[in-house]
Amino acid sequence: MSFSAVAVPLARCPAVPLDVARIREDFPILRQRIRGKPLVYLDNAATSQKPQVVIDAVTRFYAAENANIHRGVHYLSERATVAYDEAREKVARFLNAHSSREIIFTRGTTEGINLVAQTYGRTHLKPGDDIVITAMEHHSNIVPWQLVCEQTGATLRAAPISDQGELDVDAFERLLGDRTRLVALVHVSNALGTINPIKRLVALAHARGIPVLVDGAQAAPHLQVDVQNLDCDFFAFSGHKIFGPTGVGVLYGREALLERMPPYQGGGDMIATVTLQRSTWAPLPAKFEAGTPMIAQVLGLGAALDYVSKLGLDAIAAWEQDLLGYATERVSQIKGIRVIGTARDKASVLGFVLEGVHPHDIGTVLDDAGIAIRAGHHCAQPVMERFGVSGTARASFAFYNTRAEIDVLADGLMTVKKMFA
Ligand SMILES: Cc1ncc(COP(=O)(O)O)c(C=O)c1O
Repeated sequence: MSFSAVAVPLARCPAVPLDVARIREDFPILRQRIRGKPLVYLDNAATSQKPQVVIDAVTRFYAAENANIHRGVHYLSERATVAYDEAREKVARFLNAHSSREIIFTRGTTEGINLVAQTYGRTHLKPGDDIVITAMEHHSNIVPWQLVCEQTGATLRAAPISDQGELDVDAFERLLGDRTRLVALVHVSNALGTINPIKRLVALAHARGIPVLVDGAQAAPHLQVDVQNLDCDFFAFSGHKIFGPTGVGVLYGREALLERMPPYQGGGDMIATVTLQRSTWAPLPAKFEAGTPMIAQVLGLGAALDYVSKLGLDAIAAWEQDLLGYATERVSQIKGIRVIGTARDKASVLGFVLEGVHPHDIGTVLDDAGIAIRAGHHCAQPVMERFGVSGTARASFAFYNTRAEIDVLADGLMTVKKMFA
């Protein structure tokens, strides 16, 4: 397979086995040695590595195409505007949105959720209303709702999770009441790997007329997402977790809702008219994109989505399931290890604790062997509390990882065990 930076049709490719050895060549960083050992990068849930086509798209923009969009009549500005708008079309196709007017570029998942909290949330919430989340959320899908609850007098409620890390759907349903104004839930948990049954949960909320925001930060890189099929009202994800640049993300919003929401920030580009007394707003999606956007990053994201689409999300998911299954088996065989997050439906994340060893010590010893994992609370302190741990060690996989790398991880964990025995 060869990849280029030119746009490819974002057809939903059938699952074909991945040529992982070939794919790894597209990622320059994977050739590195860390502390004299080949890099084994298993921290993909924190951020993913970038293929050369993404690096090229960003570099090419600054080297040959740089101009501000939407404001110039000159050649470069027009070209940058077209490229920016094309990237939005790509995102719309990637998510199967009804229209590119439903695609707002943000700084990332965090900003997308804050945008909804401060526009939709702030205008719809009153004392006595509530918002329902789950007990497996990332802080990004907790704190923005706490802030808007403080501002409006609304209450935040969280549906519980089981010992396996699965959502208690009955308890979730019982929380949905007459005064619930919004449900906000994670698609794939970054701490547990649990895949939530989003379509079913959306249907339960919609049966009561409640809109649903999906935190898709860990879903978009690993699962085929179709917002029309999920029927969700908002879906947020981050560019850097889907092999694109940092500093860019996407908020999908149902057009009818976005139309009724006030702007998030004021400034250039988001207005139709301005007088010194008042302003009127630009049509979607510009209404939600105040100021000069992250143009280079948006183009890089477009290249990343082309790349991922060419591999095919189904093929990616199949390979990552194999890796997750193999890693779970290898790691679980090590005496003293407890896997945190054993849901039936999981994606790409293996969190665990090792008896008597602090997760940071696990991370540090593995780092010495060139293995990058994450250790700590993973911005999900309520999840850690639920499982009675201060933190976990977390290996998280991407399509460029291999079973051989998991063997290196397992060997590394044996070294940790010996050192701390
Ligand atoms: C499930 C989940 N939601 C939200 C976020 C926040 O993403 P970002 O920091 O890119 O805004 C993360 C990041 O780890 C995440 O894993």
